[in-house]
Amino acid sequence: MSRNADDLTTLIRSRAGAEPVRAGLILGSGLGHLAGAVDGVAIPYADLPGFPHAAVSGHNPNLVIGTLEGTRVAVFGAREHYYERGNPAAMRTALETLKALGADHLIATNAAGSLRPDIRPGDLMLLSDHINFSGLNPLIGEPTDARFVPMGDAHDPAIRAALQAAAQAQDIPLPQGVYAWYSGPSFETPAEIRAIRILGGDAVGMSTVPEVILARFLGLRVAAISTITNMAAGLSDEKISHEHTKAMAPLGAAKLERILRHYLRHLR
Ligand code: HPA
Repeated sequence: MSRNADDLTTLIRSRAGAEPVRAGLILGSGLGHLAGAVDGVAIPYADLPGFPHAAVSGHNPNLVIGTLEGTRVAVFGAREHYYERGNPAAMRTALETLKALGADHLIATNAAGSLRPDIRPGDLMLLSDHINFSGLNPLIGEPTDARFVPMGDAHDPAIRAALQAAAQAQDIPLPQGVYAWYSGPSFETPAEIRAIRILGGDAVGMSTVPEVILARFLGLRVAAISTITNMAAGLSDEKISHEHTKAMAPLGAAKLERILRHYLRHLR
C-alpha cells in the first residue's frame, strides 16, 4: 500500500472512527444523493490529498464513511473520469485507501447509454463483463509484475449473484450485459455505437472500467451497475446530452438504492 493511502487512512480513521469498512460504493452521475443515506461522517475530497479532483456537475465530491443497512461502507460521492484530466489512474489513491480501510469489495455505479432494445432509459443493467473500447489502462507505468492482472472474472460472480438476488427480492429487473468504456467527453457517433454493438457491447459509458482494473489490481472484488439514461447515439430520436443524463439518472437511482440497501442488509 502506498504511503499516501496509509496517511489518508490514518486521517480518515481519526475523523470517522477506526472500525474497518466492509465495502466501497462509487456513485455515478445523478446518483450522488445516496451518500446522504449513510449514517456517518462526510469528508470532502479537498481534505484528502490524492483523491479525485471531481468537477463534473451532478457528482458529490465527498467520501462518506458510515453505516448503511448495518454494513460499514465507504461511499465515494464522485469519481474522476479519464476525460477530466487525461489520467486513467485518477481513482488509484482513492481505491488504495478503500483497501487500506479494510474493504474487501467495491460496487461501482454509473450512468450509461443502452444499445439493447430491451434495456430502456430508467432501467438498470448489471455488468457481466466489459470492453475497454478506449484502449487506455490505469496500470500503464506500474513497475511491478502485479500489473499483469487477470481479468477473467473481473466482475465477481458471487457479488453479481447477490445483487441479482437483491433485485429479485425487490421485484426490480436487473438484466446483465457488457459495458463498453468510451473515453468521452464527447458522446459516441452512431457509427461508433454500431461498432460497439458488433463487438458485443450492451451499454456504453465514460467510466467504471479503469476502476474495475484498479480494484482487481489491488485485490478488491468488484461488481458494477449501470443506470440507463438514454438509448445510445443513433438508436433513438432523443438528443443525448449531459443535462439529459442528469435528468434521467434519478429514474434508475431509486431502484438502485433499493437493490443496494437489500444487498447490504443481507451481506454476511
Ligand atoms: N454514452 C456515453 N456515456 C453515457 C451515455 C452515453 O450514451 N449516457 C450516459 N453516459
